[in-house]
Parts: sequence; C-alpha cells; structure tokens
Amino acid sequence: MSAHRVAVIAGDGVGPEVVAQARRAVEATGVEIAWTELPWGSDHYHRTGRMMPADALATLRGHDAILLGAVGDPSVPDHISLWELLLALRQGLDLWANVRPAQLLPGVPGPLAGRAPGEVDMLFVRENTEGEYAGVGGRVHAGLAGETGIEVSVFTRPAVERVVRFAFERAEERRGRLTSATKSNASRYGYVLWDEVVAEVAADHPGVEVDSVLVDALAARMVRDPGSLDVVVASNLFGDVLTDLAAALQGGMGVAASASLAPGSDAPPLFEPVHGSAPDIAGRGVANPIGCLWSAQLMLEQLGEPEAAAALRAAIAAVCRQGPRTRDLGGTASTAEVGDAVVRAVEAAPVR
Ligand code: NAD
Ligand code: IPM
Ligand code: MN
Repeated sequence: MSAHRVAVIAGDGVGPEVVAQARRAVEATGVEIAWTELPWGSDHYHRTGRMMPADALATLRGHDAILLGAVGDPSVPDHISLWELLLALRQGLDLWANVRPAQLLPGVPGPLAGRAPGEVDMLFVRENTEGEYAGVGGRVHAGLAGETGIEVSVFTRPAVERVVRFAFERAEERRGRLTSATKSNASRYGYVLWDEVVAEVAADHPGVEVDSVLVDALAARMVRDPGSLDVVVASNLFGDVLTDLAAALQGGMGVAASASLAPGSDAPPLFEPVHGSAPDIAGRGVANPIGCLWSAQLMLEQLGEPEAAAALRAAIAAVCRQGPRTRDLGGTASTAEVGDAVVRAVEAAPVR
C-alpha cells in the first residue's frame, strides 16, 4: 500500500510540541506516512498577513488526513486566528461531524477517581459547521451607548439531520443509547427544530434508546452519573463546552482527543487535541502530549490501519497507567519523555 498523505499543521503555542510526539508515535507503528508540513498559524500571520495561504483548502484536499496541534496566540485576536484557520478548515472542508471520545484512562487522576475505566465511556458527536458558530450577525450602533453585537445561531434541517443520523449510527455500534443536548426551553426556534429532527430520526433506529436532555441538566449529569451516558449529540457550542467538561472529567485538557470528519466525502478528516495552544505553558516542554497522541490514534483508525491504531492505543494506556506523566497529571515528566515512553511501548509490541 502506498504511504498515507498526512498534512501537518502544528500551529501555535504547545501545538508543535505535542504534534512532534504524535508523529514519532505514528512512525513507531511502522505505518508509512508521507508528511507535508504546513507552517500555518500566528507566525505565518505576522509574516504574510494571513493565517494560511489563499489556496490552503486546495492544498489540503490533496491529502488523506490532517493532523493539527493548536491555533491561537496572544499576539493575534482569537476571532481572526480561529476564523482564518481552524474554523475555516472545519467549515471550508465541510467537516460536519466532530467526534470526541471521553473515557477514563487507567491510572489518570481526576474528579471521577474511584470509578473503574470502562465505567465511563462517552462519545460526543458535535455539529461542526453551523449553529452558534454560523458567523451570522453584526455590530450596530458603534460608539453609541446602545452599541449592540448580534450573533445569530443557524440550524438547518440538513446539517442537523446528518449529524443526528451519524450519532444514532454510532450509538447502534456501541451501547445503544443516545442523549441529545439542547436548550429548547429557552430557545424557540433552533433547538426546537433540533429536537424534532432527533424524534424523526429516532423512528429509523428503534434499537436506540433516546433521551433529549436540556444542556444545563446534562452538564450536571456528566459529573453525577457519567456512566449513564453513551453517545451524546450536541450543537456546535454546546458540544464545545461539554467536551471541555468531559476532558476535565478524564483528567484534564491535556488528554482529550478529537476528530472532525466528513463522512461520505473525500475531504481529508482533521485530527487535533481538544485543548488549545496553552500560552501559559508553551515553550517549556511540559505540555501533555496524550490528547494529541490519542487524536493521532483516531487518525490511524480512520486511515484504515486498525492494527497500528490498536498498538498506539495500548501504548497510550500503558503509559497512562505506569507513567511517566506530565505535571498536569501529577507527574514531573516532560512532553518528550512521555512521547519517548509511548514510542518504546509501541516498539515493544511491533505491528508489522
Ligand atoms: P487551552 O486549552 O489552551 O488551555 C486551558 C488550560 O489547559 C491552560 O491552563 C493550559 O495550560 C491547560 N492545557 C491545555 N493543553 C494542555 C496540555 N496539552 N498539557 C497540559 N495542560 C494543558 O485553552 P485557552 O487558554 O482557553 O486558549 C488558549 C488559546 O488557544 C486561545 O487562543 C484559544 O482560542 C485557543 N484554542 C485553540 C483550540 C484549537 O486550536 N483546537 C482549542 C481551544 C482553544
Ligand atoms: C475546540 C476549540 C474551538 C471551538 C475554538 C478554538 C474556536 O475550543 O476545538 O474545542 O470552539 O471549536
Ligand atoms: Mn473547545
């Protein structure tokens, strides 16, 4: 088989630090990858006035997957850096299904300590193209006392339906439970439509037990009774907020993984940790690479390399269990020391 073509956007802050470890771990599995390094991000913005070149989407379309570190730097306003890079990729490539697994990792300390790994195994499916991130709105009455910022949430039936169907299918493959998060007591339009679509699609999936929950109550339930949750489907913003909470429940921002997919299309899927560029710890070599390693593991699965994906998964679990661990998980190891340990664990169980 020819090498998989993977575009790497290491990006800003801790992005390059964690991506370097993910690349080494993928290489240790023996899977052949042709990496294309794309130096896009805030430095590129300072050099060129753009976060990425005008033909970036065409460049990316020539690849089988994208591995991204993080985007965001204190020297560039977030609404520029994110809208010109990360959100531009998700929306421009129509990567409509953002999949974020949340499981307890063996040995990782966290607020759910005491529960066995396996007891908490949630899969968040986040709508990734519209909703509260539609970019519709404007600023009016600038400079007046009543200056107003308007941000419109947009929910289209086709976009809601495709992500809800995708979530039902994932629930069918897992424990057969789907929880949909909305706020249709306070909303009168968008989430009401969302709830209707969920009820309609449920009729095609009689084997799935469906639960429509208000997002505030769901946040509490994630902490109080996470074992009751299997697949959770949510809008763009609710999915964003709930998956930071899920990351914290797993042990912290440094461990959570994410895949943005466009099922049925030939657009390259995007793999990235849930965390951001972490400017507070960037450049010190202390960032936890587990979230990025786990995202690369999702990438191997998506590239059709199940043995390599399983080997990397096992290596991540072994390192979580035995250490070394970075300081966010109570350890003292550097990013590279955790990466070294994962590489060694992959090499100890060669896949080919
Ligand atoms: P953040 O996720 O970068 O950091 C939040 C906290 O988690 C910080 O204390 C940080 O040190 C810690 N943390 C994050 N990643 C870690 C890691 N790998 N290991 C150990 N600790 C880690 O969120 P923020 O501070 O709100 O945002 C910083 C910048 O990143 C902003 O510009 C934001 O817009 C951007 N951002 C980008 C992405 C992305 O590229 N996918 C995601 C979220 C935020
Ligand atoms: C994430 C991030 C992004 C989001 C930001 C940086 C735009 O928080 O991937 O979770 O809100 O989707
Ligand atoms: Mn987020």
